[in-house]
Amino acid sequence: MKICRSIKDCRVAVADLRRQDRSIGFVPTMGALHDGHLSLVRLAQANATSSVVSIFVNPTQFGDAADLDLYPRDEDRDLALLHKAGVDIVFLPDADTIYPPGDETIVETTRLANMLHGKVRPGHFRGVTSVVNRLFNIAQPDVAVFGEKDYQQLMVIRQMVHDLHMPVGIIGGPTRREADGLAMSSRNQRLSPADRLAAVVLNRSLDLAEARACSTGATVDDIRNVIIDTIAAEPRAKLCGLDTVTADGLNSLHGVIIEPLAIMISVQFSDILLIDQRVIQP
Ligand code: PAF
Repeated sequence: MKICRSIKDCRVAVADLRRQDRSIGFVPTMGALHDGHLSLVRLAQANATSSVVSIFVNPTQFGDAADLDLYPRDEDRDLALLHKAGVDIVFLPDADTIYPPGDETIVETTRLANMLHGKVRPGHFRGVTSVVNRLFNIAQPDVAVFGEKDYQQLMVIRQMVHDLHMPVGIIGGPTRREADGLAMSSRNQRLSPADRLAAVVLNRSLDLAEARACSTGATVDDIRNVIIDTIAAEPRAKLCGLDTVTADGLNSLHGVIIEPLAIMISVQFSDILLIDQRVIQP
């Protein structure tokens, strides 16, 4: 496994793979890897003949400097996991490498980035597209894998790749869950033991909403009420965002559910915001 910290080293390593006629499957991450990331790596490996993973805690997607500082980091453990997973190249840039001094270029999907979660976290998706664009230019992948848990992020990336004619296939990786149903996330390790137990309410509310959606004549408001009531019944949880939108364009939906519906929720426990999602087929 090659470990590259500079753009030049990463390009040389990628060119070596290309010379061997290997295609590149790319997984961008912010480190603190868990089984969810490793499932994305396996998906990249199933769709390409080599795999490249980046680890970069991207400052431009954090609104709050404290959140950025508290983001978990464990490079040695991450590298050991990626080595075991058979990854070919790990790209570990620092912030000045990705954003050279004097940098002034941003990439933004103007509609998708500023709605739903983007309203709660202004600038977040602009930071994501700006960094993913740079990472794609460096790793030059054939395919790239993003988790479906960050559903809006996946849609934003698909839109960017479409609009900018980028020759990268985007693959969504199914959400991996802990035994009790909590979606795997690097943020989970910052939850207190009591909040960690309570956090199961996200998945429970989505299960109940899905069950409700399967009953005849269920409306979008029925689904929303199930989520609101379930989260309200957990005193440690505060519902911060609930979006019920079309699964493809993320447009608002009302009335009886007659087309695929994406439910996206964000729930706060103390100072930790967790997100989860479910796509429901009527
Ligand atoms: O999903 C993430 O971990 C990040 O948003 C990403 C895609 C690595 C960009 O920094």
